Amino acid sequence: MVKWVKKDLLGLEYLSREEIELVLYTADSFKEVTTRQIKKVPALRGKTVVNLFYEPSTRTRTSFELAAKRLSCDVINIAVEASSVAKGETLIDTGRNVEALNIDIIVVRHSSSGAPYILSRAVKASVVNAGDGWHEHPTQALLDMYTLKSKLGRIEGLSVSIIGDIAHSRVARSNIWGLTKLGAKVTVCAPPTLIPIGIEKFGVRVTSDIDEAIRGADAINVLRMQFERDSMQAFPSRIEYFKQYGITEERLEKAKPGLVVMHPGPINRGVEMSSEVADGPRSVILEQVTNGIAVRMAVLYLVANAKEHLTLPSPPSGERKKVRGKETQFEQ
Ligand code: CP
Repeated sequence: MVKWVKKDLLGLEYLSREEIELVLYTADSFKEVTTRQIKKVPALRGKTVVNLFYEPSTRTRTSFELAAKRLSCDVINIAVEASSVAKGETLIDTGRNVEALNIDIIVVRHSSSGAPYILSRAVKASVVNAGDGWHEHPTQALLDMYTLKSKLGRIEGLSVSIIGDIAHSRVARSNIWGLTKLGAKVTVCAPPTLIPIGIEKFGVRVTSDIDEAIRGADAINVLRMQFERDSMQAFPSRIEYFKQYGITEERLEKAKPGLVVMHPGPINRGVEMSSEVADGPRSVILEQVTNGIAVRMAVLYLVANAKEHLTLPSPPSGERKKVRGKETQFEQ
């Protein structure tokens, strides 16, 4: 039996392989819910979720809101720029005041690495990391792995290349933790100036040769160049980056026939990849976005029930079955 006992989801570094598999397995049941005509279950009725985003977001904030609503939660979105943060209120004070309104789960995105960890120590509510600085973006990596598993049937043994600004990428870090724990072979590929020193210690192969990263890969996960975090200071120009590292149909000619192309979004078209690739048959970019709802439903459901030491059956290998949570019916 796999037990989920964690109040928070702060990063995939802190999850075991079994806990990651449990999230993916739980997401499978919720995926079915998201395809129904009435896309709602009472699993978390009476709970309240706050989205506290200190950085811009389209996909993550919207899908957390939808995930919470699909679980029958009440949802509040705090626009940080229009909140008392603008008057100098600290993260901890904001968190404690939000909690005083009887909030159960705080979903936080912050430009500072470690901010969700600090918040989780200050409040009794569950804290879910929606991306912190360069550190982790755990739900992005979970939905990336969920999408990979849906497309290719497994994670174990897959060759996955993560390409782009590895140095500034929380998506890369969470994917490296998650994929290596689940037994994938991970390659990171970037210009040498965008590869952190010592990244090999995380069990990944490192290359600056884009053709080598594509050749033999089952999937490539192409990262956004983070202009707001000085990605381009490590490379002369966007045009030169695209010429040397941009993913094009021409480059993909040598790829495996079934190669899966992923990108966490938002895409800089003509920088990380051509529109032909982004919108082409290998791309699963929009499927990643869709899968984000089921994966975030699973995360909210698991952390909300953690205090009860929720026990779920071990996921059967290579087979999909519905999860029947304690006291909770996913089906109406
Ligand atoms: N992938 C991702 O985090 O996108 P958003 O910034 O739009 O949430």
